[in-house]
Amino acid sequence: MIQAVRGMNDLWPETLVHWQRIEAIARDVLGQYGFREIRLPIVERTELFARSIGSHTDIVEKEMYSFELDGERLTLRPEGTAGAVRAGIAQGLLHNQIQRWWYAGPMFRHERPQKGRYRQFHQIGAEAFGAGGPDIDAEMILLTATLWKALGLEGLRLEVNTLGTPSARADYRARLVAYLRLRFEELDEDSRRRLESNPLRVLDSKNPDMTSVIQSAPSLLDFLDDASRRHFEELQQLLRRVGVDYTVNPRLVRGLDYYTRTVFEWLTDRLGAQSAVCAGGRYDGLVELLGGKPTSALGFALGLERLVELLVQSAPMALEEVPQVYVVPTTEAQAASALLLAEALRARGLRVECHFGGGSLKSQMKRADKTGARYAVLLERGDQAVVKDLRGDAGQRTIAPAEIGDYLSARLSAGAGQQT
Ligand code: HAM
Repeated sequence: MIQAVRGMNDLWPETLVHWQRIEAIARDVLGQYGFREIRLPIVERTELFARSIGSHTDIVEKEMYSFELDGERLTLRPEGTAGAVRAGIAQGLLHNQIQRWWYAGPMFRHERPQKGRYRQFHQIGAEAFGAGGPDIDAEMILLTATLWKALGLEGLRLEVNTLGTPSARADYRARLVAYLRLRFEELDEDSRRRLESNPLRVLDSKNPDMTSVIQSAPSLLDFLDDASRRHFEELQQLLRRVGVDYTVNPRLVRGLDYYTRTVFEWLTDRLGAQSAVCAGGRYDGLVELLGGKPTSALGFALGLERLVELLVQSAPMALEEVPQVYVVPTTEAQAASALLLAEALRARGLRVECHFGGGSLKSQMKRADKTGARYAVLLERGDQAVVKDLRGDAGQRTIAPAEIGDYLSARLSAGAGQQT
């Protein structure tokens, strides 16, 4: 037997109904905010991610699925922002205009798999280009809050922070490194490694032994430039005005280097260690870094697997897409009539399954029942059919086949048989 690749999941209909519901609602909500869908390649040049996410990040250092083909270094995308910027620059779509795009699809990171953390996972992401004020940051966050409401998800917590400008961050970085050197003996192995390459990530450590070092570390908020400070204050005012609750977490640094100013994460307590359901922020320097003209930009991505897990926990009754009608040709001679009747019922918008494979009447009815269908239609010899209510109290009745469509449409649209 050939095993699936570790950390990569097969998805089955029972789970996919949740995926499809999230995707449909996200599509609607994003559309309401003026975002339009884009679809980009899964494979990009390795260099794109090294430059944008940063060569000293965990993602680029050890989590990318990279390979060489025809002399090119290529990588399965670990996230969607870099590709969106690459494509936007190439098409000349980013300069001096407002663009709002969204995307959905698989991403790949060679992390240690555990609940909520996979090697192939899926994001729905959104990116907005061309607006630099805190008002669009607030709208982006509001959009995500609206999405949770539309999905019926409660209990997510919003954390926000600002990372300032690159130069403010460089000053802070120098100060942080000096501080961490003083407490070098207390650092764990990971933090010692990060001290030189990516010291801000030390603040992200989940190791409880590091809590005291992190708690007493200097705060980036004390190093902010005035414009970034104002931007952050205005964003908070806007969030309060529009009624989105948040907490400021000065240690929220994110694992990708391209962020400037606003960063945010939506967190849950219900998924163990993998608490971030959605995350994003502003990346005003990235377009220029990748060869475009300076362009303000921001975005977020949500993790579909994590969101689905939350929804399954809070609404375990799956929205099963069971057939409404199960058509049984009780003899071989009825096979064509059964296909035709099923087609006629589908043309009325009903979900219909036909019975195949013959068998005794008893086994046919057992199969009909197992599908969860509300009605079974048994086509018998001659021009009579029996319609059986398998779940309700309408019993069974004999009807001429030509009248079955009207009868079932009326029963099902009256709500008597809607199962989803
Ligand atoms: P990120 O924080 O790396 O940001 O990922 C966003 C979300 O994807 C996470 O909050 C999490 O829900 C989900 N996720 C990440 N890694 C995994 C994994 N291994 N398994 C399951 N879910 C995962 C980004 O990717 C940025 N591109 C977001 C962004 C867009 N920032 C600006 N624009």
